[in-house]
Amino acid sequence: MTDARILKIESLEAKVGTENLDILNGVNLEIGKGEVHAIMGPNGSGKSTLAKVLAGHPGYEATAGRVLFKGQNLLELDADERSRAGIFLAFQYPVEIPGVSIANFLRTALQAHLTGAEELDIFEFSDMLTERMSMLEMDISFAERHVNDGFSGGEKKRNEILQMAVLKPTLAVMDETDSGLDIDALKRSGGAEIALELEEDGYKNWKDSELVSLSNESGVSKTA
Ligand SMILES: Nc1ncnc2c1ncn2[C@@H]1O[C@H](COP(=O)(O)OP(=O)(O)O)[C@@H](O)[C@H]1O
Ligand SMILES: [Mg+2]
Repeated sequence: MTDARILKIESLEAKVGTENLDILNGVNLEIGKGEVHAIMGPNGSGKSTLAKVLAGHPGYEATAGRVLFKGQNLLELDADERSRAGIFLAFQYPVEIPGVSIANFLRTALQAHLTGAEELDIFEFSDMLTERMSMLEMDISFAERHVNDGFSGGEKKRNEILQMAVLKPTLAVMDETDSGLDIDALKRSGGAEIALELEEDGYKNWKDSELVSLSNESGVSKTA
């Protein structure tokens, strides 16, 4: 049944817009509801590029193939439309935004997900943020810090996870967002059992979302 597939990538080719450099040369991937996939490959093999093409990064251009997300042609949507449709990308290198608090950033992102004139209830938002942060065992004061400004690498990754927890996407693409998964498991080489371990242990809090996790390791494995 086609509608059991959340994401269907068919023979996708993509290049860096400015460079005329082909990076993806025929990627095929299907992700069904409730599945966790780990895409592994050496440095420079195109994992981040795939993530950015899925999210709609303007610097990358899909030149062939197609991507269906919940049956919709993803490639014809702008990045903000993809976000509203339920795609989330946790960056490998999160951007620092001095002057903007995490709480404000998240509230604005959620407001942008609402349609029409609907206004986000500030008290509901505050309760939800507190609840999500306590789930992630984060101190509430963290929400008053400016987005990634002066954060350690680990704090930046936790902030990406917090965004995911607040936005509750249908499909989360995590580009080397390794906090919360068992990094030692990734240091070993092996087959699909590594991805299965991730599914069992590493992502146990994330059963509601489909996940794509990108990590820097040779060998390819995938769970279904
Ligand atoms: N904006 C860009 N300009 C030039 N080259 C790029 C750009 N983005 C990616 N590349 C090149 O594309 C290849 C794949 O990069 P990337 O997708 O970041 O790999 P990975 O995430 O698997 O390490 C690399 O050779 C990288 O240098
Ligand atoms: Mg990368």
